[in-house]
Amino acid sequence: MTALHTPATLNLVPFVSVDHMMKLVLHLGVERVLADLAGYIADDFRRWPEFDKTPRIAAHSPDGVIELMPAADRRAYGFKYVNGHPKNTASGRQTVTAFGMLADVATGYPVLLTEMTILTALRTAAMSALAARHLAPEGAATMAIIGNGAQSEFQALAFRALLGIDRLRLWDTDPAATAKFRRNLDGAGFTITTCRSAEAAVEGAEIITTVTADKRRATILSDNMVGAGVHLNAVGGDCPGKTELAAGILTRADIFVEYAPQTRIEGEIQQLAPDHPVTEFWQVLTGDAPGRRAADAVTLFDSVGFAIEDFSALRYIRDRVAETPFAQDLDLLADPDDPRDLYGMVMRAG
Ligand SMILES: NC(=O)c1ccc[n+]([C@@H]2O[C@H](COP(=O)([O-])OP(=O)(O)OC[C@H]3O[C@@H](n4cnc5c(N)ncnc54)[C@H](O)[C@@H]3O)[C@@H](O)[C@H]2O)c1
Repeated sequence: MTALHTPATLNLVPFVSVDHMMKLVLHLGVERVLADLAGYIADDFRRWPEFDKTPRIAAHSPDGVIELMPAADRRAYGFKYVNGHPKNTASGRQTVTAFGMLADVATGYPVLLTEMTILTALRTAAMSALAARHLAPEGAATMAIIGNGAQSEFQALAFRALLGIDRLRLWDTDPAATAKFRRNLDGAGFTITTCRSAEAAVEGAEIITTVTADKRRATILSDNMVGAGVHLNAVGGDCPGKTELAAGILTRADIFVEYAPQTRIEGEIQQLAPDHPVTEFWQVLTGDAPGRRAADAVTLFDSVGFAIEDFSALRYIRDRVAETPFAQDLDLLADPDDPRDLYGMVMRAG
């Protein structure tokens, strides 16, 4: 097996800072990045059986969770560190922050270290839109977005890039979040309606995205709010004891998940029996399972975020950043002249 990356100097690892990630995304264009990421995710999902997979390793505390998300194929190994702390925004912090690494399986040497807070928002939105392209009703044009925080604009742009959705109906318990969303996407070509409740937001929407943050069993959508033919993109319920949908919706929906062993712990389906039938979305991409069965079916993408999506995102950034100035070399790996003389290298530094 050949190495993925052979840098001139073995101690150096390309590092993409937040500043460089923003410049890279603007250089490429947000919607192009979202479409490209969906392509990378689809490519990796189609070869699902080739991956080493595990539910993410979660450390829970009263106000949040810290998670490690590893995935590997025969060439590359990736992991992401990510947190989820819904109360963080009150102290000026993000609910979700992340960074991650891609390494060469042949040598174990890292080939990329990168910020992943922005990248997580991009890959989550790309994943949602990719799933919706196969599950949403044909000709869908209107999406309700309930929860207008950090992830929300990315979701809107991904659904336009992949499905052509250009009508948005917004609701957030904090009007400042909705005002922020409108400011950010003002003049971007969407028709945006600010709604007075979640009930009002879902009126006439063929797609409903729930992307709220609250560490409890919330009921963002009750059973009577979801009519026939709707596609639900449920993003915010992603931890034990943290859900967004009434259980009654789940029992009449066709449910699609990323990786069932993880989603049964973390997703909306934690509310259901452990053997409730669900479809892993990769099977829809490979043609092994149907997507939307009927115009009047309620489909649910029970998104929690899976490590292969981050692996795909890391691969994408490694491929794209190489052609740009938006990375810096980080002195991350000890590289003694004689590989066995690590101690001598330390002493010579004195
Ligand atoms: N599935 C995934 O892959 C994935 C990836 C990233 C984030 N998430 C989850 O998505 C959620 C949103 O993340 P974020 O970074 O946008 O968080 P955020 O804190 O920036 O925004 C959340 C928004 O939800 C609003 N909200 C809270 N309760 C509400 C309610 N009952 N009705 C309407 N709005 C409500 C808040 O006012 C806030 O504006 C989090 O729960 C996060 O854990 C999931």
